[in-house]
Amino acid sequence: MMAQPVPASPEIQLLDLEKRFREIRAVDGVSLEVVSGEFFSLLGPSGCGKTTTLRMIGGFEAPTGGRILLRGRDMTSDPPDKRPVNMVFQHYALFPHLDVGDNVAFGLRRKGVAKAEAARRVGEALELVRLDGYERRRPHQLSGGQQQRVALARALVNRPNVLLLDEPLGALDLKLRRQLQLELKRIQVEVGITFVYVTHDQEEALTMSDRIAVMQAGKVEQLGTPEELYERPATRFVADFIGTTNLLHGQVEAGGAVRLTSGEVTHVAQDALAIGTAVELSIRPEAIELVPVGAVGAIRANVEQAAYLGTTISYQVRTAGGLGLTVLTPKTGVRLPVGSEVAVAWAPSEALVLGRGPDAAADGVRGGWQQEDGAA
Ligand SMILES: Nc1ncnc2c1ncn2[C@@H]1O[C@H](COP(=O)(O)OP(=O)(O)OP(=O)(O)O)[C@@H](O)[C@H]1O
Ligand SMILES: [Mg+2]
Repeated sequence: MMAQPVPASPEIQLLDLEKRFREIRAVDGVSLEVVSGEFFSLLGPSGCGKTTTLRMIGGFEAPTGGRILLRGRDMTSDPPDKRPVNMVFQHYALFPHLDVGDNVAFGLRRKGVAKAEAARRVGEALELVRLDGYERRRPHQLSGGQQQRVALARALVNRPNVLLLDEPLGALDLKLRRQLQLELKRIQVEVGITFVYVTHDQEEALTMSDRIAVMQAGKVEQLGTPEELYERPATRFVADFIGTTNLLHGQVEAGGAVRLTSGEVTHVAQDALAIGTAVELSIRPEAIELVPVGAVGAIRANVEQAAYLGTTISYQVRTAGGLGLTVLTPKTGVRLPVGSEVAVAWAPSEALVLGRGPDAAADGVRGGWQQEDGAA
């Protein structure tokens, strides 16, 4: 008989992980698995417990509950240097008096790796982060992005199973951040190390991650691939935090119809909803079509604002019932001036019925890219 392939044990398992600081539940029962070789991100607004979770995985913070397994071994109470992980912090924390080569070699020296071997590995690591030739520079002679790449080389040179990165690009300007996002992804694929990446920037998480755990108030709100989170957000929080969306409220009527609080009627694909149920709908701006006034099933609206965004045009429209919507259209279509009478329509399958969050706010558009830093 052929042996069944044994599924690889996950690289990291968090089992009901908890951290309390007196009355604050910084991490409140997090359970998840990170697969070997995965680029896994913890994403969420400031204070949701990302850093605390990462520090517990690294052994820098002791959990007040739950367990941490690394490659199937319970390491909940092991010190950082006993764990096969390395951490890269937001602030580079390079030794200012050591040159780049010595900064990268630091961990190897402490482990007693022979000089020639250390030099070879330092060279490899610097090549990986595209800083070969910078060995003799001091940190103050490097740009922020270069310093962060040295920090990365210093972590990679130890060949950990897992690299923990806490907003490593947070201190850099947007252009450099975008460039280093691609670099980080390339390096991760090249070395095949598992990355656990902390960020509050949804765009950054979507760009780089294989899977993302969206956190709020110490809990995992939803875990999935970037596509799953964007296409099928499970809650209003996720719909709101990932990308931009229109949130609508209404009540279910017969035949899949929903009467919106603005008085207009729309349809949803879900037919299991009882008549009279109050629902919240999420409709992405790009899922809304601008159609001629009078089109069957469409809702009449007026263009209040139009913003040219390069490849797309973003319209703010308001329906006769007073519902404000954001509509994103390709710029190849007809340009509509402010004040135009239009109608809006969307496929019922694009009106996602959300699990109701605790705070049912007013209708309207909300979204990550309009906010300062994605933290609602
Ligand atoms: N040493 C500490 N003592 C008391 N409270 C703490 C401590 N460290 C963190 N907290 C609290 O725990 C919660 C989670 O903090 P954490 O640093 O994990 O958040 P975060 O998601 O990393 O936020 P940010 O995006 O701002 O870095 C916050 O309410 C924070 O104030
Ligand atoms: Mg943090």
